[in-house]
Amino acid sequence: MVASELRQKYLEFFKSKGHAIIPSASLIPENDPTVLFTTAGMHPLVVYLLGENHPAGKRLVNVQKCIRTNDIDEVGDAVHHTFFEMLGNWSLGDYFKKEAITWSWEFLTSPQWLGLEKEKIAVSVFSDESAPFDEESYKIWLALGVPEKRIAKLPQANNWWGLERGGPCGPDTEMFYWVGSGQAPEKFDDSDSRWVEIWNDVFMQFNKRSSGSYEPLAQKNVDTGMGLERTLAVLNRMDDDYRTELFWPLIEKIVELSRKKYDSSVETTRAMRIIADHIKAATFILGDDKAIVPSNVDQGYVIRRLIRRAVRYGKQLGIENIFTFKVAEVVIEIYKDIYSELRNNKEFIVNQLVKEEEKFKKTLERGIKEYQIQNEKIKMQNDNVKLKIIPAEVAFNLYQTYGFPIELTEELAKEDGFDVDKDGFFEALKKHQELSRAGAEQKFKGGLADHSEQVVKYHTVAHLLLAALRKVLGGNVNQKGANITEERLRFDFLHGQKMTPEEIRQIEDMVNEKIKADLSVQMEEMGLEEAKAQGATGVFESRYGERVKVYTIADPSLRQAQGKLSSGPPFSREICGGPHVERTGILGKFKIIKEESSSAGVRRIKAVLE
Ligand code: ALA
Repeated sequence: MVASELRQKYLEFFKSKGHAIIPSASLIPENDPTVLFTTAGMHPLVVYLLGENHPAGKRLVNVQKCIRTNDIDEVGDAVHHTFFEMLGNWSLGDYFKKEAITWSWEFLTSPQWLGLEKEKIAVSVFSDESAPFDEESYKIWLALGVPEKRIAKLPQANNWWGLERGGPCGPDTEMFYWVGSGQAPEKFDDSDSRWVEIWNDVFMQFNKRSSGSYEPLAQKNVDTGMGLERTLAVLNRMDDDYRTELFWPLIEKIVELSRKKYDSSVETTRAMRIIADHIKAATFILGDDKAIVPSNVDQGYVIRRLIRRAVRYGKQLGIENIFTFKVAEVVIEIYKDIYSELRNNKEFIVNQLVKEEEKFKKTLERGIKEYQIQNEKIKMQNDNVKLKIIPAEVAFNLYQTYGFPIELTEELAKEDGFDVDKDGFFEALKKHQELSRAGAEQKFKGGLADHSEQVVKYHTVAHLLLAALRKVLGGNVNQKGANITEERLRFDFLHGQKMTPEEIRQIEDMVNEKIKADLSVQMEEMGLEEAKAQGATGVFESRYGERVKVYTIADPSLRQAQGKLSSGPPFSREICGGPHVERTGILGKFKIIKEESSSAGVRRIKAVLE
């Protein structure tokens, strides 16, 4: 069976039971700022489940596109997906358990409909101390011929459904299909992954209030959801959703791009599934008419995470070139007739993917290297090894400088058996956002990783500026602090009087001359004492005996010509954590836009790169 046939059958079946077919809603919930995505077919129907009249009546059916990000760690197995389609039917205070379960059984097993083998079906019903056992559902299943051993009684954690934020909810009954080889075991074991959940009938008779308490709903509703991808796999006797027509062309594309076989190793299979899943989800979010772009907030952040994670796995597979848009083109091809928005927004989707991938690729490799360096350091420090924690500063630096979503750092850490100090990370993020908000006197536009390249450039130009200040104003000029946003550099330094216009011009010229000369920026690690002996500035918080990074900006050809020993001091040499650009030539034009007093004896320069 193909997907279009399954969708059609589902709609037709419930139409024959008096249901009105309604269209799929947008992936981005309307009028609901509490959640980022439509996570289930019932989501756009909440107000009707709570009692409003639906214009199409009391019995509804549809195919709803959904995004779930809470399962993202499980994506990579055969059956979990970020984007999926849910086949759903609803009773708004109309029929209840008997009809819902009987129709589910009929649709699954009748040769006229799906014709699945009854012997391979198992179900679960709600049984928990928190509310009465759902004996009614249990008895309905028994009466339909499901053996006792194939009906599991499971607690609230398994058999209760509602949105996380509350609202309509209730006990549910779930249907599973045996995808293992041979006959299904007599007894159903819900922890065996060869029993795949394909459908869920929820009996929504409660409203969960924001206080956490439950109140009975005026009307008893039914909300069901069948996973299209899983059911399609089951119907085609596959134990892997990625082998179905909804994924396989994507896998083929990834196989072609990576020149690796899908099942050559567990890691390869997993990486290919993650790429296919994530790019499909990103394509659908970008393809929504709401035109959301990758960013550091809300849905934009989810797109960013999906794309960047896919790019990382692409790298793991050895894919060198920009590739996510190529996978997206296949996604569009698969779905364009059902979801015309993908066809209409194709150019937007492709452009955004290319842009985001290019942006991330620039820093990905350096970021992974940086992670490894930091990780090695941490491993050498006994205390941290015992704790196995990546400190917040490291995670924040990876985020700010290399555009690593925190989840990506967590994932790298997990591979080493490490945790990340996430609380510390979010604290640092908040602090930074407040600073840059105040500093830039404008709203933080969620743009750190967005502008990481720019931030790195400002880091380097700050070194050029300090060196120029010391040359023009004298060697006792010392840096007091610096604050960098993607828009400007703010630089505080010790100096007794206001700078003259001539001094400002001289400094601008000197910095621009060093930019134009395209000097190399080189890093060496050494002991603090040696760094000081070499005349490195900027010793701020380093401690005695510590190893530090020293960044040197110099003209290598000049140094070479003069011989290393006889060469004079380089233009700039600073102790600094980095990172920096590799050559000054890419910095652009340096301009001081303001020089003012910051506090007694401290001057402040604001400067930009144009
Ligand atoms: N809303 C129910 C689910 O998502 C059907 O499982």
